[in-house]
Amino acid sequence: MSNPKQLSVQALQWSGHSLKVLDQRLLPETIRYDEYLDAAGVTEAIASMRVRGAPAIGIAAAYGVVLSAMRHYPSADWQAAVERDIAQLAASRPTAVNLFWALDKMRAQLATTDADPLAALTELAKQIHADDMAANHAMGERGADIIGAAKAVLTHCNAGALATGGYGTALGVIRSAHKRGHLQHVYADETRPWLQGARLTVWELAQDGIPATLIADSAAAWLMKSGKIDWIIVGADRIAANGDVANKIGTYSLAVLARQHGVKVMVAAPSSTFDFTLASGDSIEIEERNPQELLADCYLRDDSLVTAWNPVFDVTPAELISAIVTERGVVIDPGKNGVGSLRAC
Ligand code: MRU
Repeated sequence: MSNPKQLSVQALQWSGHSLKVLDQRLLPETIRYDEYLDAAGVTEAIASMRVRGAPAIGIAAAYGVVLSAMRHYPSADWQAAVERDIAQLAASRPTAVNLFWALDKMRAQLATTDADPLAALTELAKQIHADDMAANHAMGERGADIIGAAKAVLTHCNAGALATGGYGTALGVIRSAHKRGHLQHVYADETRPWLQGARLTVWELAQDGIPATLIADSAAAWLMKSGKIDWIIVGADRIAANGDVANKIGTYSLAVLARQHGVKVMVAAPSSTFDFTLASGDSIEIEERNPQELLADCYLRDDSLVTAWNPVFDVTPAELISAIVTERGVVIDPGKNGVGSLRAC
């Protein structure tokens, strides 16, 4: 049996004095780790999507706080300088709550002492990283139990090792189910406009020897109509108190299509993705990125009549979701049953 903690790919590597970030914009052609020595660099790595995926950006931000403390402690007013860096990290991307969750944990640790914070902050960031990987393995097993003998699934965006501390949320379920020998095939949406599915997901799956077929986003309805898939399995960027799920743009349309075709929808996400302060998905801030990500260069002139709208997440209502899987437990039919049982004790 393979070592469950073995990683096929690592988005983040902590060196002890720097954070090495795999530049995901260059994949799959080029594997390059950039080394960051301060919080400003980590902020830029998140904002520019060198590192992306909700859990991974939370982990990167936690290490960013360690780098900030390394830079500023013990200068005069070092706490205020670290607070400024935390504010900068928090402004890098708005939708994934894991970023704010991790920063809150690091800030709470900072508040415990005026003495040298480095050892405790480093320990906490490493713990956040390790806990995320462990959560993914737990979710993988729970999710595989639920999909049972499903032979083929569709996934969207990249919710794999690249998006997390390792193993993945949706891809963790897929990895665990494939190891059990039932799941024979994975379909992956391209995931326009950033192509996380085409560039990252199929690459990750191929590295693990899991057969994957790439489809254009617009082929998803026809795939469901063909009867080839039993489940759609995705990750999440934020889950509201009523079970509404923010995830990569296109997830909502998949869930609507799934209802029409009798396909089930699973969301796999660690408990750090829950935001119980928001009553519903209506209050989740949806990131809108630069229209340049969509427009051909000839439309970028100021006098162009062509513009673009580029929301990069959407919200799927709880009633369209068949199961939410976390490391703490599972909710079947969250629209009916709520997600209160998944709250921290
Ligand atoms: O814009 P991205 O690539 O950061 O979006 C990522 C997603 O939407 C993922 O599905 C989500 O973060 C879950 S990752 C385990």
